[in-house]
Amino acid sequence: MPQYETILTEQNGAVTVITLNRPQSLNALSSVVLEELISAFAAYQADDSQLCAVLTGSGEKAFAAGADIKEMADKPAADFYNQDFFSRWTSHLVKATRKPWIAAVNGFALGGGCELAMMADFIIASENAKFGQPEIKLGVAPGMGGSQRLTRAIGKSKAMEMCLTGRMMDAAEAERSGLVARTVPLADLMAEAMKTAETIAAMPPMAAMVNKEMVNAAYEMTLDQGLLHERRLFQILTATEDKAEGMAAFIEKRDGKWKGR
Ligand code: CAA
Repeated sequence: MPQYETILTEQNGAVTVITLNRPQSLNALSSVVLEELISAFAAYQADDSQLCAVLTGSGEKAFAAGADIKEMADKPAADFYNQDFFSRWTSHLVKATRKPWIAAVNGFALGGGCELAMMADFIIASENAKFGQPEIKLGVAPGMGGSQRLTRAIGKSKAMEMCLTGRMMDAAEAERSGLVARTVPLADLMAEAMKTAETIAAMPPMAAMVNKEMVNAAYEMTLDQGLLHERRLFQILTATEDKAEGMAAFIEKRDGKWKGR
């Protein structure tokens, strides 16, 4: 496994665990973190033995407290614009990562931290997790998808309130609002995230990618387009060896053995 400066990666069976590892700055998302995450997610996507990933933060306090404010403080606006700052998160972590991944949020997920968690296929949060888009207090606004993904996740009223006041939402409210799939005690977070990731990793891999693609399409398409897209992908899956195996295994009352084709 490559050695990184700001993240840790490990393979646990078919599950890749990626840990943001700058606890002294609450795992703030610097440019180096971005580059290393892009590389780690690309390695996960490219490795056929890896079928689900979990992203978490080191320490008990933060998943990530946002983009690195110290790095941004003196950066001229022209650099943000000319470099199309923050554009590579979505293209690499969301679009190019076609395999499933889970965010295990273990504390603060603020600004870019909340936005990074929302790039995951779903979030499992510890009971001490706190979500927020406090960028307004810095004289800016979300820049990695907060105004869009948070609004789609929890609706306009709550998303607007959070963006305009910068207030944090605790884990219970986040679960109630549909932002997180499940909340668990902090001590159980990684075990629960790993158990869930292992369940996904045990599924037919191509079907897992297609299910992910279908659900994500609901954010991009009209209902008619989405339903057509879903039907076509379903029809394509019926041609796979894993479909034949899955249905035979059901009828023969045994577990399926997947080929990913
Ligand atoms: N960037 C850089 N450093 C950060 C940071 C960030 N986003 N968040 C925390 N840190 C650093 C602090 O500066 C501090 O470092 P020092 O010890 O060197 O002073 C260290 O992490 C510990 O933080 P605190 O002492 O502040 O810890 P706390 O428990 O008192 O407060 C907190 C915790 C409420 C999360 C507070 O750290 C905080 O408000 N952080 C900033 C949150 C924020 O505004 N995030 C949005 C960033 S902008 C963004 O993300 C843009 C975008 O849309 C992509």
